[in-house]
Amino acid sequence: MKTDTSTALHEFCSADTPETSASAGDVNSHEEFFRLYVAELTGICPHDHAPLQLKLEHTFRVLENARFIAKEEHFLPLVTRACLLAALYHDISRFEQYRIWKTFRDHESCDHGELSVELVQRMNVMKKEPELENCVLTAIRLHNKRTLPEKLSETEHTVCSVIRDADRIDIMQIIDEHLSGKSGTSPDVITPFPDNPNLFSQSVIKAVLERKAASYADLKSVNDFRLLAAGWFYLMGFESSKRLTVQAGHARSLIEHLPFPYEQVQLQLLNDLQC
Ligand SMILES: [Fe+2]
Repeated sequence: MKTDTSTALHEFCSADTPETSASAGDVNSHEEFFRLYVAELTGICPHDHAPLQLKLEHTFRVLENARFIAKEEHFLPLVTRACLLAALYHDISRFEQYRIWKTFRDHESCDHGELSVELVQRMNVMKKEPELENCVLTAIRLHNKRTLPEKLSETEHTVCSVIRDADRIDIMQIIDEHLSGKSGTSPDVITPFPDNPNLFSQSVIKAVLERKAASYADLKSVNDFRLLAAGWFYLMGFESSKRLTVQAGHARSLIEHLPFPYEQVQLQLLNDLQC
């Protein structure tokens, strides 16, 4: 795996100046580093670069979602900063993952949450933020896990929840745009399940009716996938995340044309999305 960095990247990672002058919400130097890193990885990627551009855009939308949630929830400055840094770096491994394995599917390559932690540590990008490092790394590691462990500090739990919400809100948009044809790609780019209206999972419907997490293992069709993603609304950890989900409109768009077997859960979710 390539870990060398260009001169600019090296300068960022080895600078001794602490980030004491930066306000908590100003992560511009980290954003610049991230863009340089992505440019370098893109330059050495032998595959189609379009998916990398989408991941770059995803990262910055997740950053903005996290910024919105932190502001609306009136977090303390350092908690806000931890949220922004975890959002920025949560998917930094996607560029290596795609370069090496030509896929974003973890089960065919690696756990990208774990690899993001490894890269952040190896490139020393949190060197100037020692008081935030553990919390940020924990949120990155856990952002793609099914559930959060119980043994988290209050701050860790808060930052983890912000990143998971901010990530899911954007992934809902990506899934909606792909499945509605707005992205110009076919549904099987984003899900391997058949687009067959006769196939549905009672387990997925039951989980969302109970406002719980549906399992990927239970999915049988594209419609199940639509419902699973829209059902993330119930997993949001903050009222501001729910408001952002409602405002974005993608949860509604994902389920509003589901066929009969989904009628009850569709009505419930559409009603709850009016909050
Ligand atoms: Fe991710």
